[in-house]
Parts: sequence; structure tokens; C-alpha cells
Amino acid sequence: MKLTIIGSGYVGLTTGACFAEVGHEVLCVDNDPRKIETLLRGDIPIYEPGLAEMVTKNVAAGRLRFTTDTPEGVRHGDVVFIAVPTPPNPDGSVDLKFIEKVAREIAPAIETYKVIVDKSTVPVKTGEKVAETIRRYAPGADFDVVSNPEFLREGSAVADLMKPDRIVIGANSERALALMQRLYAPFHAAVLTTDIASAELIKHAANSFLALKISYINAVSAICEASGADVEMVAEGIGMDKRIGRAFLNAGLGYGGSCFPKDIAAFIAISEDLGVPFTLLKEVERINRDQLERFLKRLRDKLWVLEEKKIAVWGLAFKQNTDDIRCSVALDLVERLVAEGAEVRAYDPKAMDRVRDLPLGEKIVLVDDPLAACDGAEALVIATEWPQFAQADFAKVKPRMLSPLVFDGRNLLDPATMARLGFEYHGIGRGAASVGEE
Ligand code: UGA
Repeated sequence: MKLTIIGSGYVGLTTGACFAEVGHEVLCVDNDPRKIETLLRGDIPIYEPGLAEMVTKNVAAGRLRFTTDTPEGVRHGDVVFIAVPTPPNPDGSVDLKFIEKVAREIAPAIETYKVIVDKSTVPVKTGEKVAETIRRYAPGADFDVVSNPEFLREGSAVADLMKPDRIVIGANSERALALMQRLYAPFHAAVLTTDIASAELIKHAANSFLALKISYINAVSAICEASGADVEMVAEGIGMDKRIGRAFLNAGLGYGGSCFPKDIAAFIAISEDLGVPFTLLKEVERINRDQLERFLKRLRDKLWVLEEKKIAVWGLAFKQNTDDIRCSVALDLVERLVAEGAEVRAYDPKAMDRVRDLPLGEKIVLVDDPLAACDGAEALVIATEWPQFAQADFAKVKPRMLSPLVFDGRNLLDPATMARLGFEYHGIGRGAASVGEE
């Protein structure tokens, strides 16, 4: 099938590559000429495991193309995806100006029947607005609007797209639904068909529920610290109940990234707008903010004054397997340490170039080697859940540090092993197990 993706960012580019991979003819559009030039040169603007290879392969096969020309895109695709950013307004509500602009641009280019698909995360009822807008700018245009939310995670986007848990298609027309089902048939995944409003809500409700799970276990981690219990064992114990599940019960510094913080704030704003305030989600946000505060307090309790303290930080990305630093809690932590006068030497496997470009990049030392980041450090902080941090050779870390203090903000390490190696170990919610004995 022929399809077009308008917006070649994280979601648009990976979705386009995966559709091409299963044999569709994909045209990716973006209004940023530099991004399109980069892609035409064969460079990928983001780090995502497996994506570069997949793009190269499908460009070579002629199934994946790039352009800045929206009308050309609309003519090409029987199905036209909208995958443009939906940034937050200062009050947490969603700014839909890019979606509205694309709807206006698409409208006059519609010559034959098109399915216009909302892929971006949008508030419930946006589909109706998109349809209204297209009708206003192109009365008589033959089209249907569909909501098809995306559930990919950064760092495993290609795998999530190729083998999705489910595909949600919100459509109010049989014709549009049939085309969407054909489009997704090669993925052999479970398809849930709904009305448009329900599909739109599923996305915000799913992300909010996942964030709620994280905040739930983080709240339990505070109780573990106060009572001497170990949150890892508690998570294991409750996660073995199939009704609960172990996933997304990893206690830590809290959730960040370009999705959860924005989507939870948006869902709160949407619920208030609809006159049914979802106050539980405000508590989810509060617990998330508190995780970092409690962690910083722990550091201060131990180091007393942070000013002039040399602190090694492993991890800057908002999670593992990505170079994305948007709303990264690791970065918030570094900002706070710097603000209190600490001298930070930081390492991240993928995100250092992004941090170098920030004003913060000039206030810290970015070190290419995790061991060298620990030279002379009075404490090592683990801020992102990169698996290689768990496999690091801590026997080599210890002699490089001034004092063997480790604050594990992602519970990656085993407290007993760390104690055996002579470290004083502080995890999150690991109660009595938190401080290792030499
Ligand atoms: C999230 C959702 O998981 C995807 O399903 C969704 O499609 C995506 O948002 C989106 O809306 O586009 P993503 O933000 O890429 O995906 O990353 P996650 O793996 O969900 O992690 C989000 C944050 O939660 C990270 O900061 C991570 O460190 C944190 N986290 C995750 C925890 O603190 N504990 C956990 O148990 C899991």
C-alpha cells in the first residue's frame, strides 16, 4: 500500500521505516529542510537501536522516501498519517497548533479518497476537530479521519513497532477501517477497533496508568526506607500476581522523557476541561517530584555540604538505550548538584553530545570513560538505568574514588556485592539493605 507520514520525528520516522520494512511504499514528509537533507544523506537524527539499518535498507529498496512537500505527500498516500509534535502549554494543556496547521495544509491537496490518521498523542475529540478543519478548507473532499495511537517506547521503538502488544484503530467508517486493517495485516498483531474518541483516550489512559504504577512503587519505596523493608522484594512479591504484573514497578528517581510528564499533565488538563478532574494523577506527579528531593536529601545527609564535593554521575539520558535527554530526571539531578556547588564529572554512553550543547554542559565535566569519571570522586551517583552500569567492574572503580560511596538512583546494583567490595551503598527503598557493611 502507499502511505504518507507527515512529521518525521521520533514516531514518524520509526513508523515510516517499519511500514516500509513490511513492504509498503512510504513517503515521509517534514517541514524542516535540514532534517530532510540529513535523512536524504543517509544520516539518522536520533539514536534508536536498529533504526539506521532499517532506514538504509528500505531507502535502498525504494520503499522509503523523504520530502518537504506536503501536497506531494498527500497525493502519494492512500493513508496519510499525522505524526507532528503536540507540545505542552504552560498550564499543562496540549498545544495543537501543529496538528491544526497540517490539517489546513492537507485539505486542498486531497484529490481522491484519503484516510487521515492521527498518530500524534492528542486530547480526546481532536479527531473531530481535524475532520472539521479539513471540511472547512476543502468542502466536498472525500476523506475519513482515524485515530491510531502509538505505544512505542524510546530505546526499543523498532521492536515495539514490529511486534506490538496491540494496535488500536479508532474509526467511524467501515471503509477507513478496512484500509487500516490491510495496512497492519503484515504485523500479525491483535487489533482493537473502537470509535475515535475511545482510541484517543486509550493513549492518555495507558501512559497515565504506567506512570501511576511507577509512582505507586516509588511511594512504597519511601515506606520501605522508613521501615527497613526492601522495595525490590516488595515489587517482586506484588508483581508475581498476574493481575498486577512486575513491569513498570522499578523504583528509582522517577519517570521523565518526552511522554509521561507531558501526557500526565495533559490528561489532568483534559479531565478538568471536561468537568471531571482526575485528581489522582496530581498525586502521581507529586510522588514523582518527591523521589528526586528524597534522593538529594540522602546525598546531603551523607556528604553534609555538596559545595566543592566531587560527584561522579553515570547516566544523563532519561532512560537506557537512548540519547534523548528531554525531561531527563538524571539531568535535573545534575542541575541541582551544580546549583549547590558540587563539581560533577558525568558519563553517559549515548547522550553526552546532547548535553555538551546545553548551558549545563559548560558547568560540568563530561568524561568519555565511566571509570575516569570516578577519579577523585567523593560519591558516585547512578542516574539512568543503562544495563552496562550494572555490569561495571566496581573493583576497579573503588581505588579511583576518594571515598567509596555509591548512590544508586535506579537500583541497578546488588547491595550485598557492593558491600563485599567495600562500598557504602545507598539504593532507593532498600531499607536496611541500603547501607552495605564492609
Ligand atoms: C512511554 C510508554 O512506555 C510508551 O508505551 C509510549 O508509547 C510512549 O511513552 C509515548 O507516549 O510515546 P517512553 O517514554 O519511551 O515510553 O519510555 P518508558 O520506557 O515508558 O520510560 C519512561 C520513564 O519511566 C523513564 O524515565 C524511565 O526511567 C521511567 N521508568 C520506567 C521507571 O522509573 N520505572 C519503571 O519501572 C519503568
